[in-house]
Amino acid sequence: MKKILLLGASGSIGRQTIDILQSRREDFSLLGFSVGNQDNLIVSLITSFPEVQSIFLLNKRRIPELSKQFPHINFFSGEDGIKRLIESLQVDLMINALVGFIGLEPTILALQQGIDVATANKEALVVGGKLINEIIASGKVHLYPIDSEHVAISKALKGNEQTAQRLILTASGGPFLHLSRTEMTKVTVQEALHHPSWKMGKKITIDSATLMNKGFEIIEAHYLFNFPVDKIDVLFHPESKIHSLVYFADGSYLADIGPSDMRIPIGYALYGGQRKVGLPHNDLTLDSFPTFHFEPLDDEKFPLVSIAKEAIRIGGSLPCVLNAANEVAVYAFLEEQIPFLGIEEVIKWALDNAKVIGEPSLEELIAVDKMTRTLVTNYIKGKY
Ligand SMILES: NC(=O)c1ccc[n+]([C@@H]2O[C@H](COP(=O)([O-])OP(=O)(O)OC[C@H]3O[C@@H](n4cnc5c(N)ncnc54)[C@H](OP(=O)(O)O)[C@@H]3O)[C@@H](O)[C@H]2O)c1
Repeated sequence: MKKILLLGASGSIGRQTIDILQSRREDFSLLGFSVGNQDNLIVSLITSFPEVQSIFLLNKRRIPELSKQFPHINFFSGEDGIKRLIESLQVDLMINALVGFIGLEPTILALQQGIDVATANKEALVVGGKLINEIIASGKVHLYPIDSEHVAISKALKGNEQTAQRLILTASGGPFLHLSRTEMTKVTVQEALHHPSWKMGKKITIDSATLMNKGFEIIEAHYLFNFPVDKIDVLFHPESKIHSLVYFADGSYLADIGPSDMRIPIGYALYGGQRKVGLPHNDLTLDSFPTFHFEPLDDEKFPLVSIAKEAIRIGGSLPCVLNAANEVAVYAFLEEQIPFLGIEEVIKWALDNAKVIGEPSLEELIAVDKMTRTLVTNYIKGKY
């Protein structure tokens, strides 16, 4: 029986994780979880998983009422609340389904405490991949990706690491794949939130429309598989059924093909990188899906992929600046403060004006993140 802590239980990945945990009560016990603002889910989750011992929620005003109703459960909130949640439990696996920079500290803390981590939170790897890999190098803990592309690559690499030449991340291209740059100047928030093949949280949906998501995934793959950034490519594949590929020295490729259903990579991570029979998933019947398309990445139309590559080549604190600027810009776009292409412009400005720290500590990354957010927020206020 694997003891689980789930961060971000109320999100898109979190809810699909709950789906799997619920279908496999004999394999998992959920000892703790976190929610943000959607604390209306807490009672039903406790009912489904009566073994829950600790919960984090954003709104601390609800804690007295919940503590009265569930006196055997510890409730946490506030700035160090997620840290206290992690420290309050003895679990085998923490699933990080938080969105954004807030996922970094919990990942590092859990790994430092000897807890394996399955992470959907790619921002933690983008910002702190080097620190995370230093902990993993101890050999005592594992980090499992929950991203369809990275799960696809880890399946293809298994036992084949020595002959892998290139990693090829597939990209749907998002809703604006076939728009011109001029057309992109006018797109609305609603249009950007309409992803052609995946239903996800708002932030990653916008990252998919700008292709920042693919830039982040290159950095994620670089750290997860210790692969040079220049050997990681992006290939448009609008159907989102080939989840990524590895190109090998003998001239062949291995690909992972399946439905656009995140429960498959989540299940793979929950079982420590193994396929399991009978987990909930959609089916893809290939005879009813005869056509797969590929297109090369257009760097001029989607410059954020090469900007992300350049940020990781320079390294140090620059990927942290990239991530913080992107987070601020994406939420500003969602609130209609900046246009769609403003996201890219704001990121370029932040990177051009950043001072790079060579080997930042966690504390320095936290400071860089905070400072970048302030600078970028002021820049947006002044310019837009
Ligand atoms: N969705 C996908 O299919 C997918 C695929 C691959 C990778 N990912 C990655 O997985 C991560 C999660 O994505 P998602 O789509 O699941 O996002 P989401 O639906 O927006 O969920 C984010 C979760 O984080 C919680 N949260 C947000 N701000 C918080 C805060 N300040 N304190 C505590 N909790 C907070 C949210 O709580 P409330 O909702 O309760 O406020 C929610 O539970 C992202 O890094 C994304 O890039 C997602």
